[in-house]
Amino acid sequence: MPAYICGVGFHVPAHTVTNHDLEQRVDTSDEWIVTRTGIRQRHISQGELTSDLGAQAARAALADAGLTADAVTHILCATCTPDSYCPNTATQIARKLDLRGRMAVDLNAACSGYLYSLQTARALVTLDPRAVVLVVASEVLSSRVNWADRTTCVLFGDGAGAAIVCGEKSGRGVEIIDALLESDGQYGELLTILGGGSARPYTLGEPVGEDFFIQMNGREVFKVAVRSMTDVCQRMLARHGLGVDDLDMFVAHQANLRIIEAVGKKLDLPAEKVFANVQRYGNTSAASVGIALAEGCADGTFGPGQRVLLTTFGSGFTWGAVLLQF
Ligand code: ACO
Repeated sequence: MPAYICGVGFHVPAHTVTNHDLEQRVDTSDEWIVTRTGIRQRHISQGELTSDLGAQAARAALADAGLTADAVTHILCATCTPDSYCPNTATQIARKLDLRGRMAVDLNAACSGYLYSLQTARALVTLDPRAVVLVVASEVLSSRVNWADRTTCVLFGDGAGAAIVCGEKSGRGVEIIDALLESDGQYGELLTILGGGSARPYTLGEPVGEDFFIQMNGREVFKVAVRSMTDVCQRMLARHGLGVDDLDMFVAHQANLRIIEAVGKKLDLPAEKVFANVQRYGNTSAASVGIALAEGCADGTFGPGQRVLLTTFGSGFTWGAVLLQF
């Protein structure tokens, strides 16, 4: 049963924070951040919720697909920074789109959330080819960034990417050819947001500690990220008898330009086929590939006839690859 992405959209907060702005907050420099990560600025929420960004991205994706919200049958929200534990963020996106009576569920696979959700949407479309699944990957990571920790606060940004997945080749008509999604919980401690969960409950009146925020062993994450994304992409290509020459574009999780370039090199891809917008958005976790896809569709980077490979890597660890035919 084929599944298609018939529309894509994205939304980021208007407020930007440059590396020079961060120089005022922590002991860092534009030169260090650009050299180590490629990031020059990130968009940061000024009170907008994960569901606000998600609803805006959803509206853009619906417009791109030529659909109105009432066509949507299911809402999936990929996020690791939900509005709240309960209610889930998917119901609040549905509320903002004036949708009732639909299945609305959050999915947390950290930075791999967009690909995990595309695959879940594909499964829903296989169950019912008339399903029109709204996939929203939205994050307000700034709410869980320790702004006093220079090793993490320079890396992340806020934003949302959305896609409409359906069983009919309509709108953009991008076929989801295949997905390979994997995880290894043995790496759970290397990248965490612990505070507030059952592993680190807070008692009434207790101030939050550093574990309330993103904590990461950057060097280890870097190594496993490059290895895992390269490996899963190679297996995806082999599964379809494809070589890198058969790919028109390659989109890796936009965490760090050095990771993106390292994976591109290991796959033997020419630089011009390796998409990057991390310079302007930072690492937006689940939203990153959703934003990349929507931005690249809007500016013509991706278009009819192209074969595009997506890959992600995130806390858990989770990782995966999705092959698209435009
Ligand atoms: N400004 C200035 N100096 C800094 C900063 C900063 N913002 N951050 C760290 N440093 C210092 C360190 O303290 C260290 O100093 P020391 O040598 O005196 O101890 C030095 O810079 C080198 O630190 P490293 O951590 O070894 O630097 P590295 O080259 O590994 O780069 C980075 C750090 C950018 C975090 C890198 O490890 C990385 O990109 N890792 C992957 C992180 C990532 O992308 N995670 C997300 C992927 S998964 C997901 O998105 C959830």
